[in-house]
Amino acid sequence: SAVADLAGRNVVVSAGGTREPLDPVRYLGNRSSGKQGYALARTAVARGARVTLIAANTTLPDPAGVDVVRVGTAAQLREAVLKAAADADAVVMAAAVADFRPAHYVTGKIKKKDGEEPPPLELVRNPDILAELSTDRQRPGQIVVGFAAETDDVQANGRAKLARKGCDLLVVNEVGEHKAFGSEENEAVVLGADGSETPVPYGPKEDLAELVWTLVAPKFS
Ligand code: C5P
Repeated sequence: SAVADLAGRNVVVSAGGTREPLDPVRYLGNRSSGKQGYALARTAVARGARVTLIAANTTLPDPAGVDVVRVGTAAQLREAVLKAAADADAVVMAAAVADFRPAHYVTGKIKKKDGEEPPPLELVRNPDILAELSTDRQRPGQIVVGFAAETDDVQANGRAKLARKGCDLLVVNEVGEHKAFGSEENEAVVLGADGSETPVPYGPKEDLAELVWTLVAPKFS
């Protein structure tokens, strides 16, 4: 990219998917690969930003020139993001954060016993990091961007989520067989709190990443 519209800016990007442990060998996880978050980190560096990437359980190599912080659970991701956000101009939450975690962590491996029912799986809510970042801005004027994967009523659900979370921009992905999770391509619409609506045609995650920064940059005062 030839534009240096993020020069001197500090940005935080979360990527990947959290894992919530059940016992020492098992976890509740999701299919996020981290590719979209890594594309956001790479493109931000190319546009002149200082980038902190909070990576949850990704197997991708560290992008050049990026400060990478590795985390596992939603609680760890929250702590790392809040810390990094303290001096960030923008925070982009591309990570798939578990909405729920097991209520109890079992310190020894859970065993099946002959003739016994399977153990119940009790879940509790995780804090919503995006909503928290949006409500309690870590720095005045900080821009907060969220991602949402929707299977139906993409526009309406996206608009409602944007309002509920309170972020500045929400990238709404339509998820399906060959879209979003794990794939190289993405199709989306970027909704703005200002009422704006920017469709992103099916294409590489790099293109969506570039568009996100193009929409974020003019919001810096
Ligand atoms: O509510 P939903 O999970 O659909 O929202 C997705 C967006 O919210 C993503 O940007 C994700 O990173 C963020 N999120 C979060 N904390 C959660 C759940 C989701 O920050 N506990």
